[in-house]
Amino acid sequence: MKFLPYGHQQISDEDIEAVVRVLKSDYLTQGPAVESFETAFCGATGAPYAVCCCNGTAALHLAALAAGIVAGDVVIVPPVTFVASANCVRFTGAEVVFADIDRKTLTMSPQACEVQLQRLIEKGTPAKAVVTVDLAGHPCDMQAFGELKKKYHFIWIQDACHAVGGSWTDKSGRVWKIGEWPVPDFTVYSFHPVKHITCGEGGMITTHRPGYAGDLRSYRTHGITRDPGCFVSHDLGFAPDGKPNPWYYEMQELGYNYRLTDMQAALAESQLSRLPQFISRRRQIADYYRHHLKGIKFLTFPEVAVGAGHAYHLVIIELNFDRIGKSRAQVMNELKDRGIGTQVHYIPIPMMPYYAQSCCMAEVPESMDYYRRALSIPCYSGLTNADLSRVVSSIREVVE
Ligand SMILES: Cc1ncc(COP(=O)(O)O)c(C=O)c1O
Repeated sequence: MKFLPYGHQQISDEDIEAVVRVLKSDYLTQGPAVESFETAFCGATGAPYAVCCCNGTAALHLAALAAGIVAGDVVIVPPVTFVASANCVRFTGAEVVFADIDRKTLTMSPQACEVQLQRLIEKGTPAKAVVTVDLAGHPCDMQAFGELKKKYHFIWIQDACHAVGGSWTDKSGRVWKIGEWPVPDFTVYSFHPVKHITCGEGGMITTHRPGYAGDLRSYRTHGITRDPGCFVSHDLGFAPDGKPNPWYYEMQELGYNYRLTDMQAALAESQLSRLPQFISRRRQIADYYRHHLKGIKFLTFPEVAVGAGHAYHLVIIELNFDRIGKSRAQVMNELKDRGIGTQVHYIPIPMMPYYAQSCCMAEVPESMDYYRRALSIPCYSGLTNADLSRVVSSIREVVE
């Protein structure tokens, strides 16, 4: 019996050929394939600038650095997300404050966020930034966060690690691809193998501001510039005849080695060309589950807001384990015995020992209520209809 994990990559012969071509070329680390992938990503998302790096966590860190977040700043983050969404704030020394989720869509509640924004102003430490998360691929309430940004002037980092290929519709009915709308300052993506497109490890940041793009590129490579137009030291950078010294470079700020390799970029670009098919299959899978799991007692799905172009990184079901009469561990183990992998996305971050002192669970009741019921079931484009039917019948056997 084939085991069906909750997520899995899909690698084609073309993907393999793309990597082999790079292996036979002059570049292995960041080179022309990186530039080509960034250009293709701009084309796919409609974002004017794209900067790739070695993983989604590094992408969030780069965004936090380019946003100018420093120790003493405060940043608002939702509790239900992978720890990296909050850790990128801590990397800079800034403090994390949590704002609860909207219980229906599971993305950060704009109302809860506004309460925190006002609280922080009253305390004399206004929020420097807000990190929203498009959980499972459902875009956060983009319109509402755009309005909050206008009112409170924070920097908006959109963690879209689950949402590449997703979209949302604004008040006027215009559809925007994730990354296309110019209001978020940074939109961040991950190419981990369970994501829509992968290159093993990889990340990307899109932005509409050329200054931010330049800062992201600088922090990605040690804070070093080789552009004579940017040199601080004229004496060291230029020969007496005014020409730039050919060996010269300057480290102007503290950066990192967060580069993506050309092998990874070639794989990611090859995968990107199939993003529309991947999204469309994931949507079919979600529709299948919604249809075939409907009517099972004590099983519900999160809501999809009107106008949300869900990218379905995950399909999450919510189970009332008390009413079913089985613990979550029991349900997961019984599904595993039937070859079905499941996972919980996520344990709310304030429950992590590292963060437990910065927030008490009672302050995020919606996140805690969701956590008690959450279960992610298999969703990836390689699932066949026979696989889906097996997932559905196994869930029925275990929970009905
Ligand atoms: C919402 C979210 N943000 C950030 C990340 C970090 O991405 P990466 O694993 O590529 O570092 C992940 C990874 O799972 C994620 O799910």
